[in-house]
Formats: sequence, C-alpha cells, structure tokens
Amino acid sequence: MMMISRGGGSDMLVGGTRFFSISRSVAKVLCVRAHAVHGVSVVRNESTLGMSEKENKNEVESGVAGGNKEEKKVISYWGVQPSKVTKPDGTEWKWNCFRPWETYKADLSIDLQKHHAPVTFLDKMAYWTVKVLRYPTDIFFQRRYGCRAMMLETVAAVPGMVGGMILHCKSLRRFEHSGGWIKALLEEAENERMHLMTFMEVAKPKWYERALVISVQGVFFNAYFLGYLISPKFAHRMVGYLEEEAIHSYTEFLKELDKGTIENVAAPAIAIDYWQLPPNSTLRDVVMVVRADEAHHRDVNHFASDIHYQGRELREAAAPIGYH
Ligand SMILES: [Fe+2]
Ligand SMILES: [Fe+2]
Repeated sequence: MMMISRGGGSDMLVGGTRFFSISRSVAKVLCVRAHAVHGVSVVRNESTLGMSEKENKNEVESGVAGGNKEEKKVISYWGVQPSKVTKPDGTEWKWNCFRPWETYKADLSIDLQKHHAPVTFLDKMAYWTVKVLRYPTDIFFQRRYGCRAMMLETVAAVPGMVGGMILHCKSLRRFEHSGGWIKALLEEAENERMHLMTFMEVAKPKWYERALVISVQGVFFNAYFLGYLISPKFAHRMVGYLEEEAIHSYTEFLKELDKGTIENVAAPAIAIDYWQLPPNSTLRDVVMVVRADEAHHRDVNHFASDIHYQGRELREAAAPIGYH
C-alpha cells in the first residue's frame, strides 16, 4: 500500500548547529523541542546484535526492527499522518518508538557509591525485601549478565508506571497538581523499558523466560500497586534499594566484560541512538550508560521516600523531570 504523505513540502528547522526535516503538521511542536536534539549522534545502519542470520535478512528486507517498515505504511482516513523526522545527514529517523528529542547523553559522573542506610523499621524491611529477592535471581541467572539484565528490566519498568498511574488518579480525585511527579515516574518507566529494548537485542528471551516474565509481572504489578497504596514511602524506598542492586549487577557485568568472559560486542543500533553514543560504541559503553541511569533512578526514589518521611506530599517538592 502507498502512504498519503504531506512530506513533499517539508520544512527545515534549525536546532543549534543541526537540523531536521519534518512535515508541516509537527513543525510547531518541534520548534519547542528542537533545542534538545542538537546533540544527536550519527546513526549506525548496521543490524542489531544477537540476531540470527535469518532474522538479519528479514530485517534488511522489511526495514529495521522497531523502526519504520516502508512496505507496511497505513493510509489514515482520519488525517493522522506520521511525522517525518530526518537526521542531519538527510536520512530518515528510523525509530518509531522514540524520537530525537527524547535521546540524551547519560551523566556518567554520577556517584555510584551513594547508599541510603536503612534506619527505620520500614527502611530495613524495604532493604531486606530487596536482599532476599536477590538470592533467587543470583541462583537463576548465575553469571549470565546479559540475560539477567534483560529479565530484570522487565520488572524494573513496572514501579514507575504503577506509581505514575496512582499519582495520576490521585490528582484527578483530589483536584490538585502533582508537582511533576507523574511525569517524572512515567519517564523512569519509559527509560527502564528502553533498557529492556536495548538488552533484548543482545540476549533473546527463551520461551520459558517469557513465561516467567508473565508470571512475575502478574505478581509484582499487583504487589507493588497495593504496596504503593498502603505506603508510598516504603514503595519508593524499596525501588531505591532495587536500583542500588541494579548498579551492583551492572558493575559485575562490566567486570565480566573486562575479563573477557562476556564478549564486548558492538553496541545495538537502538542504544547508539537513544544515548547519543559514538557509532563505534560497544556493549561496555551501553552498560556504563545504563548503570548511570540506574543511579539516577536510585536518587529519585530515595528522594521521593524522604519527602514522605518528612511528612510532606510528593507534589510539595518539584519533581526531578528529565533527571538522567
Ligand atoms: Fe534499568
Ligand atoms: Fe532503574
């Protein structure tokens, strides 16, 4: 099928020293966002990692995984046209799942050692809940850190969405602002999901791992939902400790990469675009930026818990939106 496109007379927007060609329908929105995209790196066209030759072949034939599939464009009766975004070199931005203005350079200078010492009963409960949960994951994954990262990200992306959803409903019920916390928590969920989208290019899930994720999600989503309703201070503290564990796991991952027990393959294309990495980046570079993300999540969640400990509501403190 052919797509009805408005792209014929595309406009050029200047964002710093770089610019993107886009359709008129989104030009207004991008004017606001263009300043955020000037650091976007040149995109690598190589296929992603961990794919079989057959999958690679299919990818070449049908476009790029997660990106635009040229032969499957949909005609919209409703006038809903996909925005056309191009890179500085004039080639089309291939990812539908995220846009250039959502990409960023990770802050690698963040302190990875920061730790919230559990003092209160609730803190200790959160701390030991996470510690206890770690044992079965250690036994299950051993030193398969690629697989471990992929599986744990399916869990890590849940709390932000649940917390954001609860705060969203609370804002509606109480006719009050959220202080930006809905957005901040949803941003965290999206960021964690992008970790998953990245690691699934490196380690492909097996059927029993998919089954495990479905079961774990069923339990964890509901448990966290209930936990957040009962005690958001406990819920955020627990996520803070989960993030501390994630930092530890990614540090172990890096050690294995440095020892050579895990091959330091080329970085998946999606990671290069999302974190604005140089085209020749490796898996090690990806793990470094993901670990930095986890440290930011740690700070956000411990901060949220601290606000509750001070007897305040989250909306009383400005949320760390865009904190990467
Ligand atoms: Fe993550
Ligand atoms: Fe995280």
